[in-house]
Amino acid sequence: MPPRAGAVHLPADHRGMHEAVWSGPDAIAKLDDPRRGSWEDPHALWRRVGLRPGMTVVDVGAGTGYYAFPAAERVGRSGRVFAVDRSPELVRLLRRRARELHRPNVVAVRSRIDRIPLRGGIADRVILANVLHGLPPSTIAEAVRVLRPGGRLVDVDAKRSHRVVGPVGPPFEHRLSVRTAQEVLGRYDLRRGGAGSFGPYLYVVVMVRPRRR
Ligand SMILES: C[S@@+](CC[C@H](N)C(=O)[O-])C[C@H]1O[C@@H](n2cnc3c(N)ncnc32)[C@H](O)[C@@H]1O
Repeated sequence: MPPRAGAVHLPADHRGMHEAVWSGPDAIAKLDDPRRGSWEDPHALWRRVGLRPGMTVVDVGAGTGYYAFPAAERVGRSGRVFAVDRSPELVRLLRRRARELHRPNVVAVRSRIDRIPLRGGIADRVILANVLHGLPPSTIAEAVRVLRPGGRLVDVDAKRSHRVVGPVGPPFEHRLSVRTAQEVLGRYDLRRGGAGSFGPYLYVVVMVRPRRR
């Protein structure tokens, strides 16, 4: 039976739910769907979370770079975007796209479920876009490790409401409510930094890594 809307139903059915990596033409076509911009504007997201020139972004579960390339545009030549994914096929695609689009500031990185091969504390922004609902705790811990104190972790995911099941997102029973996403992320070294709707089908949750005195 699916859990009640808004109920905390983790971690048992959350852990490793979608451990499969994304690959193949169908997955790529879905991530590159040209209609996506009409409900999910990555530029608006980056403006909303204060991404500025010179910043460093780590995009965990970057896919085909839907958020990574707009981020690279915004951070400019003095900034950097690490586009991290478990899928070797998607990492190769990201590298090829970075070359073709002349974005040397996008660095594609292949990760393991329990290891993102980047130094701790390097990121001003970490983004988990359409992926938290499937991440195991070991990957979430790695995403938090690479965030600098004072940096923001940005979670974009599908609304968990029967009224707004749209063209994106996992099956309803795998979706996390905003409250559950905040509860899951709150288990790490993060404090709440706001949340809200992001178009008709998605929400944004922002978490901040506290500064140490
Ligand atoms: C639904 S796609 C989202 C892609 C992209 N963020 C977007 O919104 O277009 C999820 C991506 O996360 C990757 N992924 C899944 N589990 C992962 C993990 N533990 N670590 C890194 N990447 C992962 C998949 O290979 C896939 O490319």
